Amino acid sequence: MLAVPRSQLTRRIADDYGALEPHISGKIMELHHTKHHQTYVNGLNSALETIAEAESKGDFTKAATVAPLLNFHGGGHINHTLFWENLAPASREGGGEPDGALKVRLRIRPHHSSPHH
Ligand SMILES: [Fe+2]
Repeated sequence: MLAVPRSQLTRRIADDYGALEPHISGKIMELHHTKHHQTYVNGLNSALETIAEAESKGDFTKAATVAPLLNFHGGGHINHTLFWENLAPASREGGGEPDGALKVRLRIRPHHSSPHH
């Protein structure tokens, strides 16, 4: 069975929840990682298990019924992984001013924000 190695994917910022304080609360980061992201990981692993079990029994109808959950939970997991892996404090190569295309886009739409879920 394929299982998601969550701890390997999120170690950049998740091993120090308070690294971005005072800009982002460490408590919020911890809740986000241990509750919200974990829910997607659990759901993805559960769907993978259910599909593998159904396939082993030849129940491909059940496997197909559960398959959409891979998109939902897998998408949530990937989006959160991008979130964790693209945040870093100045002490770890983060921070500073944006440059290049990102800088241009931010100047055009300075108040635009996109929720990640
Ligand atoms: Fe989230």
